[in-house]
Amino acid sequence: MSKFVMIIFGASGDLTKRKLMPALFSLYREKRMPDDFIVLGVARSTYTDETFRTRIGYDDTFSRHLHYLSIDPSKADGYAQIDQRLEQLTGETKPANLLFYLATPPSLYGIIPQHLKRAGLNRPGTRIIVEKPFGYDLQSAQELNNIYASVFEEHQIYRIDHFLGKETAQNILAFRFANGIFEPLWNRNYIDYVEITAVENMGIEERGGYYEGAGALRDMVQNHLIQLVALTAMEPPAKFNAETFRNEVVKVYDSLRPLTEEDLNEHVVRGQYTASGSRKGYREEDNVAAESRTETYIAMKIGIENWRWSGVPFYIRTGKQMPTKVTEIVIHFRSTPHQMFHGEDTPYARANQLVIRIQPHEGIVLKFELKEPGGGFKVKQVSMDFSYDQLRDVPVGDAYARLIEDCIQNDATLFTRSDAIEASWRFFDPLLKYWKEKPEAPLYGYPAGTWGPLESEAMMNEHNASWTNPCKNLTNTDQYCEL
Ligand code: BG6
Repeated sequence: MSKFVMIIFGASGDLTKRKLMPALFSLYREKRMPDDFIVLGVARSTYTDETFRTRIGYDDTFSRHLHYLSIDPSKADGYAQIDQRLEQLTGETKPANLLFYLATPPSLYGIIPQHLKRAGLNRPGTRIIVEKPFGYDLQSAQELNNIYASVFEEHQIYRIDHFLGKETAQNILAFRFANGIFEPLWNRNYIDYVEITAVENMGIEERGGYYEGAGALRDMVQNHLIQLVALTAMEPPAKFNAETFRNEVVKVYDSLRPLTEEDLNEHVVRGQYTASGSRKGYREEDNVAAESRTETYIAMKIGIENWRWSGVPFYIRTGKQMPTKVTEIVIHFRSTPHQMFHGEDTPYARANQLVIRIQPHEGIVLKFELKEPGGGFKVKQVSMDFSYDQLRDVPVGDAYARLIEDCIQNDATLFTRSDAIEASWRFFDPLLKYWKEKPEAPLYGYPAGTWGPLESEAMMNEHNASWTNPCKNLTNTDQYCEL
């Protein structure tokens, strides 16, 4: 059996240090890596094996698996050196048990596979993991797909979306399809609307260069958020495997109601954080243009046109510099048809909610009404909580570790297929075009540390709804402005 080698392009970057190495280390510690595995970091920075190991900073038993090669991955001439180094490390001629990981800036996603092909490194048995965003819009995603298809077979291509590696995201499938009592309610007859939030309390950190070209739509919505929509909305596949699961995902994307002029104007709110207290505004971040109109916040109302979901709005939002970090899905059920207990001093019964907490405080909460103990018939909302902490001996695993291990084992279920990538871009493309053609379309400033533009609340109010915010907003509305 030939030795397993993972070749990481972009090995001197942030993703490698913050996510990939900790994931590899945890797989190694839990004895889930192949025997004698080799990691070859590739990047322009001039490290030696030793300085690379020191930079990564793990103990010797793990570090001795790490190696480094300094080449410029955008140039063809370094690829022969990769091949030589692989032969030397494995002691094999034409080693083929290879996993390439593209943790580089997206501008290299199209170039590297072509160089791999020219150097003959796209051998059968190799796999390639590509980070998101895969493409910049529909056309560029199609072009990238064509490039990949000319170098690899689809089963060798792993387009990663680390949200799918999260235990709590995968559990949506078990929760829906391994329980009998929820699925009969999981449709337009019982669900009023769905809310999906993935917000963070930090800014763009050192990633100004990348983020300026991406924005929240490409960074979070076109991949992570829409993936959560798919898990929430999909039909149960007849069998559970990579093809059937991914077929259902694509069907959801194909059912997204195309964005109309009205949607573009009224059902999309984009924002950008402005300075507040000690927090910088987006335009003050490094490598960000002084007049940048890149969005760091998006809220959208989207619809799914099929028998299950017709007429049920899905409100999705993401933002940087929010008051807290939270990713959750809230299923808002319809109210009771009649308010029997409502009276002068008895409030309306509130509609049931099911909260799927992706992170943090991973768990599931069902909110329901209860008679307040004592005289009369006042009702109040209480909750039944399941928290992953209750499974004391089973820690919630790391998303990257799960996905890398799946790829090593040739299991592509939790990776995005080429048709899903295109279907998702197809849906968002009109919005990207609209912003491009109309740069003056509203972009709302929100003070860093708040819940985003007030207009996003107004969008929900149309449906008599409002966002579920786990902690309070700043109240000073003077700080909100159109940019
Ligand atoms: C990444 C985005 O894909 O996801 C980042 O590029 C974002 O901007 C991150 O911070 C959020 O992931 P998580 O797992 O921390 O919620």
